Amino acid sequence: MITDSEKTRINKQMDSKKTYNLAMIGFGGMAGHHCTQLLKKNVPINISGVYDIDESRMEAARARGLYTYCSKEALLSDKNVDIVLIATYNTTHAKLSKEALLAGKHVLCEKPVTVTSKELEQVISLAKAQGKIFGVDQNRRFNKDYILLKRCIEKGLIGKPYVIESRVEGSRGMPEGWRCQKSLGGGMMLDWGVHLIDQIMMMYEDEKVTNVFCKMYSIHYPEIDDNFHLTLTFEKGLTAHIEVSTNTFINHPRWYVLGSDGTLQIDDWSCAGRIVKPISEDKSWSADISPNQAGPSKTMAKRSPDTINTVSLSAPSDVEDNLDPVYRQFIKAIEGQPLQIKPEQCLRVVKVMEAAFLSSSTSGAIDTQI
Ligand SMILES: NC(=O)c1ccc[n+]([C@@H]2O[C@H](COP(=O)([O-])OP(=O)(O)OC[C@H]3O[C@@H](n4cnc5c(N)ncnc54)[C@H](O)[C@@H]3O)[C@@H](O)[C@H]2O)c1
Repeated sequence: MITDSEKTRINKQMDSKKTYNLAMIGFGGMAGHHCTQLLKKNVPINISGVYDIDESRMEAARARGLYTYCSKEALLSDKNVDIVLIATYNTTHAKLSKEALLAGKHVLCEKPVTVTSKELEQVISLAKAQGKIFGVDQNRRFNKDYILLKRCIEKGLIGKPYVIESRVEGSRGMPEGWRCQKSLGGGMMLDWGVHLIDQIMMMYEDEKVTNVFCKMYSIHYPEIDDNFHLTLTFEKGLTAHIEVSTNTFINHPRWYVLGSDGTLQIDDWSCAGRIVKPISEDKSWSADISPNQAGPSKTMAKRSPDTINTVSLSAPSDVEDNLDPVYRQFIKAIEGQPLQIKPEQCLRVVKVMEAAFLSSSTSGAIDTQI
Protein backbone atom coordinates (compact mmCIF):
# COMPACT_ATOMS: atom_id res chain seq x y z
CA MET A 1 0.00 0.00 0.00
CA ILE A 2 1.21 3.54 -0.74
CA THR A 3 1.31 5.83 2.27
CA ASP A 4 -0.27 9.29 1.98
CA SER A 5 3.11 11.02 2.03
CA GLU A 6 4.38 8.74 -0.74
CA LYS A 7 1.25 9.49 -2.78
CA THR A 8 1.83 13.22 -2.42
CA ARG A 9 5.49 12.87 -3.42
CA ILE A 10 4.78 10.74 -6.51
CA ASN A 11 1.76 12.74 -7.66
CA LYS A 12 3.65 16.01 -7.20
CA GLN A 13 6.65 14.65 -9.09
CA MET A 14 4.41 13.67 -12.02
CA ASP A 15 1.90 16.45 -11.52
CA SER A 16 -0.65 13.65 -11.63
CA LYS A 17 -4.30 13.98 -10.62
CA LYS A 18 -4.60 10.72 -8.71
CA THR A 19 -3.13 7.34 -7.91
CA TYR A 20 -4.36 4.75 -10.41
CA ASN A 21 -5.30 1.15 -9.69
CA LEU A 22 -3.80 -1.37 -12.09
CA ALA A 23 -4.72 -5.04 -12.39
CA MET A 24 -2.61 -7.58 -14.26
CA ILE A 25 -3.89 -10.31 -16.55
CA GLY A 26 -1.06 -12.83 -16.73
CA PHE A 27 1.51 -13.00 -13.97
CA GLY A 28 4.54 -14.58 -15.61
CA GLY A 29 8.08 -13.30 -15.90
CA MET A 30 7.28 -9.92 -17.43
CA ALA A 31 4.33 -9.12 -15.17
CA GLY A 32 6.60 -9.96 -12.24
CA HIS A 33 9.06 -7.41 -13.59
CA HIS A 34 6.30 -4.79 -13.92
CA CYS A 35 5.36 -5.59 -10.34
CA THR A 36 8.94 -5.09 -9.08
CA GLN A 37 9.17 -1.77 -10.89
CA LEU A 38 5.73 -0.51 -9.82
CA LEU A 39 6.45 -1.38 -6.18
CA LYS A 40 9.33 1.12 -6.32
CA LYS A 41 6.58 3.75 -6.49
CA ASN A 42 8.20 5.91 -9.11
CA VAL A 43 4.78 6.36 -10.74
CA PRO A 44 1.38 6.89 -9.10
CA ILE A 45 0.10 3.35 -9.61
CA ASN A 46 -1.17 0.88 -7.08
CA ILE A 47 -1.40 -2.82 -8.01
CA SER A 48 -4.95 -3.83 -7.17
CA GLY A 49 -4.51 -7.50 -8.08
CA VAL A 50 -3.63 -10.20 -10.52
CA TYR A 51 -5.32 -12.96 -12.51
CA ASP A 52 -3.48 -15.84 -14.22
CA ILE A 53 -4.85 -19.09 -15.66
CA ASP A 54 -1.98 -20.92 -13.99
CA GLU A 55 -2.66 -21.47 -10.29
CA SER A 56 1.08 -21.66 -9.51
CA ARG A 57 1.45 -18.10 -10.84
CA MET A 58 -1.49 -16.97 -8.68
CA GLU A 59 0.35 -18.50 -5.73
CA ALA A 60 3.51 -16.64 -6.79
CA ALA A 61 1.52 -13.38 -6.82
CA ARG A 62 0.10 -14.04 -3.35
CA ALA A 63 3.63 -14.80 -2.12
CA ARG A 64 4.51 -11.26 -3.19
CA GLY A 65 1.62 -9.87 -1.20
CA LEU A 66 -0.66 -9.26 -4.17
CA TYR A 67 -4.40 -9.83 -4.22
CA THR A 68 -5.53 -12.52 -6.70
CA TYR A 69 -8.87 -12.37 -8.48
CA CYS A 70 -10.77 -15.65 -8.73
CA SER A 71 -11.46 -15.06 -12.44
CA LYS A 72 -10.79 -12.70 -15.32
CA GLU A 73 -14.41 -11.57 -15.07
CA ALA A 74 -13.94 -10.67 -11.39
CA LEU A 75 -10.90 -8.57 -12.32
CA LEU A 76 -12.66 -6.81 -15.19
CA SER A 77 -15.76 -6.05 -13.13
CA ASP A 78 -13.77 -4.53 -10.25
CA LYS A 79 -14.91 -0.90 -10.36
CA ASN A 80 -11.75 0.24 -8.56
CA VAL A 81 -9.53 -0.91 -11.42
CA ASP A 82 -8.56 1.94 -13.80
CA ILE A 83 -5.88 0.18 -15.87
CA VAL A 84 -5.50 -3.41 -17.03
CA LEU A 85 -2.03 -4.64 -17.93
CA ILE A 86 -2.08 -7.51 -20.44
CA ALA A 87 1.05 -9.66 -20.01
CA THR A 88 0.04 -13.02 -21.46
CA TYR A 89 1.04 -15.12 -24.51
CA ASN A 90 1.32 -13.03 -27.66
CA THR A 91 -1.69 -14.47 -29.48
CA THR A 92 -4.02 -13.64 -26.56
CA HIS A 93 -3.27 -9.89 -26.47
CA ALA A 94 -5.94 -8.77 -28.95
CA LYS A 95 -8.85 -10.65 -27.37
CA LEU A 96 -7.94 -9.71 -23.79
CA SER A 97 -7.36 -6.06 -24.75
CA LYS A 98 -10.81 -5.90 -26.32
CA GLU A 99 -12.43 -7.47 -23.27
CA ALA A 100 -10.72 -4.99 -20.94
CA LEU A 101 -11.66 -2.01 -23.12
CA LEU A 102 -15.27 -3.21 -23.27
CA ALA A 103 -15.20 -3.43 -19.46
CA GLY A 104 -14.38 0.30 -19.46
CA LYS A 105 -10.70 0.04 -18.54
CA HIS A 106 -7.64 1.76 -19.92
CA VAL A 107 -5.34 -0.92 -21.29
CA LEU A 108 -1.57 -1.23 -21.34
CA CYS A 109 -0.62 -4.21 -23.48
CA GLU A 110 2.70 -5.99 -23.67
CA LYS A 111 4.53 -6.24 -26.96
CA PRO A 112 3.97 -7.49 -29.60
CA VAL A 113 0.70 -5.62 -29.24
CA THR A 114 -1.05 -8.07 -31.58
CA VAL A 115 0.08 -10.68 -34.05
CA THR A 116 -1.90 -9.31 -37.03
CA SER A 117 -2.54 -5.77 -38.22
CA LYS A 118 -6.25 -6.54 -38.61
CA GLU A 119 -6.51 -7.35 -34.90
CA LEU A 120 -4.72 -4.14 -33.98
CA GLU A 121 -6.94 -2.01 -36.20
CA GLN A 122 -9.96 -3.45 -34.39
CA VAL A 123 -8.45 -2.75 -30.97
CA ILE A 124 -7.56 0.83 -31.94
CA SER A 125 -11.13 1.48 -33.16
CA LEU A 126 -12.58 -0.03 -30.02
CA ALA A 127 -10.38 2.08 -27.74
CA LYS A 128 -11.53 5.20 -29.60
CA ALA A 129 -15.18 4.15 -29.36
CA GLN A 130 -14.81 3.46 -25.64
CA GLY A 131 -12.92 6.70 -25.00
CA LYS A 132 -10.15 4.74 -23.28
CA ILE A 133 -6.37 4.87 -23.60
CA PHE A 134 -4.81 1.89 -25.28
CA GLY A 135 -1.04 1.81 -24.78
CA VAL A 136 1.72 -0.61 -25.68
CA ASP A 137 4.79 -1.50 -23.67
CA GLN A 138 7.44 -0.65 -26.24
CA ASN A 139 9.80 -0.09 -23.33
CA ARG A 140 12.97 -0.50 -25.37
CA ARG A 141 12.41 2.95 -26.85
CA PHE A 142 13.85 4.08 -23.51
CA ASN A 143 16.94 1.84 -23.50
CA LYS A 144 20.35 3.43 -22.93
CA ASP A 145 21.98 1.98 -26.05
CA TYR A 146 19.15 3.23 -28.27
CA ILE A 147 19.04 6.69 -26.69
CA LEU A 148 22.83 6.98 -27.10
CA LEU A 149 22.56 5.99 -30.77
CA LYS A 150 19.72 8.43 -31.46
CA ARG A 151 21.55 11.30 -29.79
CA CYS A 152 24.70 10.70 -31.85
CA ILE A 153 22.70 10.57 -35.09
CA GLU A 154 20.54 13.60 -34.21
CA LYS A 155 23.68 15.62 -33.46
CA GLY A 156 24.95 14.70 -36.93
CA LEU A 157 28.11 13.11 -35.51
CA ILE A 158 28.43 10.69 -38.45
CA GLY A 159 26.60 12.76 -41.06
CA LYS A 160 23.69 11.08 -42.83
CA PRO A 161 23.32 7.39 -41.93
CA TYR A 162 22.83 5.11 -44.91
CA VAL A 163 23.11 1.70 -43.21
CA ILE A 164 21.99 0.88 -39.68
CA GLU A 165 22.70 -2.59 -38.37
CA SER A 166 20.93 -3.65 -35.18
CA ARG A 167 21.61 -7.04 -33.66
CA VAL A 168 20.65 -8.97 -30.57
CA GLU A 169 22.46 -12.27 -30.26
CA GLY A 170 22.38 -15.03 -27.68
CA SER A 171 23.67 -18.58 -27.59
CA ARG A 172 21.28 -20.19 -25.11
CA GLY A 173 18.49 -21.25 -27.48
CA MET A 174 14.84 -20.57 -26.70
CA PRO A 175 13.20 -20.76 -23.27
CA GLU A 176 10.76 -23.67 -22.99
CA GLY A 177 7.03 -23.12 -23.34
CA TRP A 178 4.90 -20.82 -25.47
CA ARG A 179 7.88 -19.00 -27.05
CA CYS A 180 8.57 -22.21 -29.00
CA GLN A 181 4.95 -22.60 -30.15
CA LYS A 182 3.71 -20.95 -33.31
CA SER A 183 0.05 -21.05 -32.20
CA LEU A 184 0.83 -18.94 -29.10
CA GLY A 185 2.92 -16.36 -30.96
CA GLY A 186 6.37 -17.81 -30.34
CA GLY A 187 9.56 -17.07 -32.25
CA MET A 188 12.13 -14.33 -32.27
CA MET A 189 10.44 -12.01 -34.77
CA LEU A 190 7.51 -11.45 -32.40
CA ASP A 191 9.73 -11.51 -29.33
CA TRP A 192 12.76 -9.34 -30.09
CA GLY A 193 12.08 -8.36 -33.70
CA VAL A 194 9.19 -6.19 -32.60
CA HIS A 195 11.51 -4.10 -30.37
CA LEU A 196 14.30 -3.72 -32.91
CA ILE A 197 11.95 -2.82 -35.77
CA ASP A 198 10.10 -0.35 -33.53
CA GLN A 199 13.36 1.38 -32.60
CA ILE A 200 14.36 1.91 -36.23
CA MET A 201 10.84 2.92 -37.31
CA MET A 202 10.74 5.57 -34.57
CA MET A 203 13.93 7.12 -35.96
CA TYR A 204 12.37 7.28 -39.41
CA GLU A 205 8.73 7.96 -38.54
CA ASP A 206 8.18 10.18 -41.56
CA GLU A 207 9.69 7.80 -44.08
CA LYS A 208 7.90 4.84 -45.58
CA VAL A 209 9.40 1.33 -45.64
CA THR A 210 9.37 0.46 -49.32
CA ASN A 211 10.90 -3.00 -49.28
CA VAL A 212 11.13 -5.86 -46.78
CA PHE A 213 13.35 -8.89 -47.14
CA CYS A 214 13.58 -11.51 -44.42
CA LYS A 215 15.14 -14.90 -43.95
CA MET A 216 13.97 -16.78 -40.89
CA TYR A 217 15.77 -19.85 -39.58
CA SER A 218 14.55 -22.71 -37.39
CA ILE A 219 17.93 -24.06 -36.36
CA HIS A 220 16.96 -25.93 -33.20
CA TYR A 221 13.23 -25.22 -32.83
CA PRO A 222 11.29 -26.46 -35.86
CA GLU A 223 8.01 -24.68 -35.16
CA ILE A 224 9.27 -21.13 -34.90
CA ASP A 225 11.99 -18.71 -36.05
CA ASP A 226 14.81 -19.02 -33.53
CA ASN A 227 16.97 -16.73 -35.72
CA PHE A 228 16.18 -14.20 -38.41
CA HIS A 229 17.88 -11.72 -40.73
CA LEU A 230 15.69 -8.82 -41.86
CA THR A 231 16.49 -5.99 -44.27
CA LEU A 232 14.26 -2.92 -44.54
CA THR A 233 14.66 -0.28 -47.21
CA PHE A 234 13.31 3.19 -46.45
CA GLU A 235 12.04 5.53 -49.13
CA LYS A 236 14.98 7.96 -48.90
CA GLY A 237 17.51 5.16 -49.27
CA LEU A 238 18.39 4.08 -45.73
CA THR A 239 18.93 0.35 -45.30
CA ALA A 240 18.23 -1.12 -41.88
CA HIS A 241 19.57 -4.57 -41.22
CA ILE A 242 18.14 -6.34 -38.19
CA GLU A 243 19.28 -9.71 -36.88
CA VAL A 244 18.17 -11.74 -33.92
CA SER A 245 19.85 -15.00 -33.02
CA THR A 246 19.64 -17.56 -30.25
CA ASN A 247 22.53 -19.62 -31.60
CA THR A 248 25.47 -17.21 -31.88
CA PHE A 249 28.73 -17.80 -30.01
CA ILE A 250 30.70 -14.85 -31.36
CA ASN A 251 28.63 -11.68 -31.28
CA HIS A 252 28.57 -8.74 -33.64
CA PRO A 253 28.27 -5.28 -32.08
CA ARG A 254 24.80 -4.29 -30.82
CA TRP A 255 24.73 -1.32 -33.25
CA TYR A 256 26.87 -0.59 -36.30
CA VAL A 257 26.05 2.47 -38.39
CA LEU A 258 27.59 3.76 -41.59
CA GLY A 259 27.14 7.47 -42.06
CA SER A 260 28.28 9.82 -44.80
CA ASP A 261 30.86 11.37 -42.41
CA GLY A 262 31.87 8.48 -40.17
CA THR A 263 31.16 5.09 -38.63
CA LEU A 264 29.52 4.41 -35.27
CA GLN A 265 29.66 1.26 -33.22
CA ILE A 266 27.99 0.46 -29.89
CA ASP A 267 29.47 -2.82 -28.71
CA ASP A 268 26.91 -4.19 -26.28
CA TRP A 269 24.40 -3.33 -23.53
CA SER A 270 27.12 -1.55 -21.56
CA CYS A 271 27.05 1.08 -24.34
CA ALA A 272 30.82 1.03 -24.76
CA GLY A 273 31.54 2.03 -28.32
CA ARG A 274 33.12 4.57 -30.60
CA ILE A 275 32.71 6.89 -33.51
CA VAL A 276 35.52 7.02 -36.04
CA LYS A 277 35.55 9.80 -38.62
CA PRO A 278 38.08 11.42 -40.94
CA ILE A 279 39.70 14.71 -39.95
CA SER A 280 41.51 15.09 -43.24
CA GLU A 281 41.84 13.28 -46.52
CA ASP A 282 44.37 10.49 -46.65
CA LYS A 283 46.68 11.71 -49.42
CA SER A 284 48.77 8.59 -49.55
CA TRP A 285 47.50 7.48 -52.98
CA SER A 286 50.26 6.80 -55.45
CA ALA A 287 50.50 5.28 -58.88
CA ASP A 288 52.18 2.18 -57.46
CA ILE A 289 50.53 -0.30 -55.16
CA SER A 290 52.70 -0.72 -52.07
CA PRO A 291 52.44 -4.12 -50.41
CA ASN A 292 50.00 -4.13 -47.47
CA GLN A 293 47.96 -6.59 -45.39
CA ALA A 294 45.07 -6.42 -47.87
CA GLY A 295 47.36 -7.61 -50.64
CA PRO A 296 47.63 -5.67 -53.89
CA SER A 297 44.94 -3.06 -53.12
CA LYS A 298 44.99 0.71 -52.78
CA THR A 299 41.41 1.17 -51.56
CA MET A 300 41.63 -1.38 -48.75
CA ALA A 301 45.15 -0.49 -47.54
CA LYS A 302 45.31 0.75 -43.93
CA ARG A 303 44.55 4.42 -43.51
CA SER A 304 47.13 6.75 -42.06
CA PRO A 305 46.20 7.12 -38.33
CA ASP A 306 46.79 10.90 -38.22
CA THR A 307 43.86 11.39 -40.64
CA ILE A 308 41.14 9.98 -38.38
CA ASN A 309 39.54 10.94 -35.11
CA THR A 310 38.13 8.41 -32.64
CA VAL A 311 35.55 9.43 -30.04
CA SER A 312 34.72 6.93 -27.28
CA LEU A 313 31.09 6.37 -26.41
CA SER A 314 29.66 5.40 -23.06
CA ALA A 315 26.24 4.95 -21.46
CA PRO A 316 24.25 8.16 -20.97
CA SER A 317 23.89 8.85 -17.25
CA ASP A 318 20.44 10.44 -17.40
CA VAL A 319 18.44 7.40 -18.57
CA GLU A 320 16.10 5.76 -16.06
CA ASP A 321 14.64 2.22 -15.99
CA ASN A 322 12.73 1.72 -19.21
CA LEU A 323 9.32 0.92 -17.63
CA ASP A 324 8.96 4.18 -15.68
CA PRO A 325 8.73 6.37 -18.81
CA VAL A 326 6.26 3.92 -20.38
CA TYR A 327 3.94 4.31 -17.38
CA ARG A 328 4.50 8.05 -17.13
CA GLN A 329 3.45 8.76 -20.71
CA PHE A 330 0.49 6.37 -20.29
CA ILE A 331 -0.80 8.19 -17.21
CA LYS A 332 -0.28 11.56 -18.86
CA ALA A 333 -2.42 10.33 -21.77
CA ILE A 334 -5.18 9.29 -19.37
CA GLU A 335 -5.00 12.84 -18.03
CA GLY A 336 -5.43 14.39 -21.47
CA GLN A 337 -1.98 14.71 -23.01
CA PRO A 338 -1.04 12.98 -26.27
CA LEU A 339 0.09 9.39 -25.91
CA GLN A 340 3.79 9.06 -26.76
CA ILE A 341 3.80 5.36 -27.66
CA LYS A 342 0.93 5.44 -30.11
CA PRO A 343 -0.76 2.20 -31.19
CA GLU A 344 -0.73 3.59 -34.74
CA GLN A 345 3.10 3.54 -34.62
CA CYS A 346 2.92 -0.08 -33.46
CA LEU A 347 0.58 -0.82 -36.37
CA ARG A 348 3.41 0.04 -38.79
CA VAL A 349 5.68 -2.37 -36.93
CA VAL A 350 3.10 -5.16 -37.05
CA LYS A 351 2.71 -4.56 -40.80
CA VAL A 352 6.49 -4.81 -41.29
CA MET A 353 6.51 -8.09 -39.33
CA GLU A 354 3.67 -9.43 -41.51
CA ALA A 355 5.72 -8.53 -44.61
CA ALA A 356 8.76 -10.22 -43.03
CA PHE A 357 6.86 -13.48 -42.49
CA LEU A 358 5.59 -13.31 -46.06
CA SER A 359 9.06 -12.58 -47.41
CA SER A 360 10.59 -15.49 -45.53
CA SER A 361 7.90 -17.95 -46.55
CA THR A 362 8.10 -16.93 -50.23
CA SER A 363 11.90 -16.44 -50.31
CA GLY A 364 11.45 -13.06 -51.96
CA ALA A 365 11.60 -9.34 -51.23
CA ILE A 366 8.23 -7.66 -50.65
CA ASP A 367 7.53 -4.16 -52.00
CA THR A 368 5.65 -2.20 -49.37
CA GLN A 369 4.32 1.27 -48.55
CA ILE A 370 4.35 1.05 -44.75
N1 LIG B 1 8.47 -5.48 -22.96
C1 LIG B 1 9.39 -6.37 -22.67
O1 LIG B 1 10.57 -6.06 -22.53
C2 LIG B 1 8.99 -7.81 -22.49
C3 LIG B 1 9.88 -8.75 -21.93
C4 LIG B 1 9.43 -10.06 -21.77
C5 LIG B 1 8.14 -10.42 -22.15
N2 LIG B 1 7.33 -9.48 -22.71
C6 LIG B 1 5.99 -9.84 -23.17
O2 LIG B 1 5.18 -10.12 -22.04
C7 LIG B 1 4.24 -11.15 -22.33
C8 LIG B 1 4.40 -12.26 -21.33
O3 LIG B 1 5.70 -12.79 -21.44
P1 LIG B 1 6.38 -13.55 -20.20
O4 LIG B 1 7.82 -13.61 -20.48
O5 LIG B 1 5.93 -12.93 -18.92
O6 LIG B 1 5.73 -14.98 -20.38
P2 LIG B 1 5.37 -16.00 -19.22
O7 LIG B 1 5.12 -17.31 -19.86
O8 LIG B 1 6.41 -15.93 -18.15
O9 LIG B 1 4.00 -15.42 -18.61
C9 LIG B 1 2.80 -15.43 -19.31
C10 LIG B 1 1.72 -15.69 -18.28
O10 LIG B 1 0.45 -15.46 -18.89
C11 LIG B 1 -0.46 -16.42 -18.35
N3 LIG B 1 -1.61 -16.49 -19.24
C12 LIG B 1 -1.63 -16.93 -20.52
N4 LIG B 1 -2.87 -16.78 -21.05
C13 LIG B 1 -3.63 -16.21 -20.09
C14 LIG B 1 -4.97 -15.79 -20.03
N5 LIG B 1 -5.79 -15.93 -21.06
N6 LIG B 1 -5.42 -15.24 -18.88
C15 LIG B 1 -4.60 -15.09 -17.82
N7 LIG B 1 -3.32 -15.49 -17.81
C16 LIG B 1 -2.82 -16.03 -18.93
C17 LIG B 1 0.36 -17.69 -18.25
O11 LIG B 1 -0.21 -18.63 -17.39
C18 LIG B 1 1.70 -17.15 -17.77
O12 LIG B 1 1.81 -17.15 -16.36
C19 LIG B 1 4.53 -11.57 -23.77
O13 LIG B 1 3.64 -10.94 -24.63
C20 LIG B 1 5.95 -11.10 -24.01
O14 LIG B 1 6.20 -10.81 -25.35
C21 LIG B 1 7.72 -8.20 -22.86
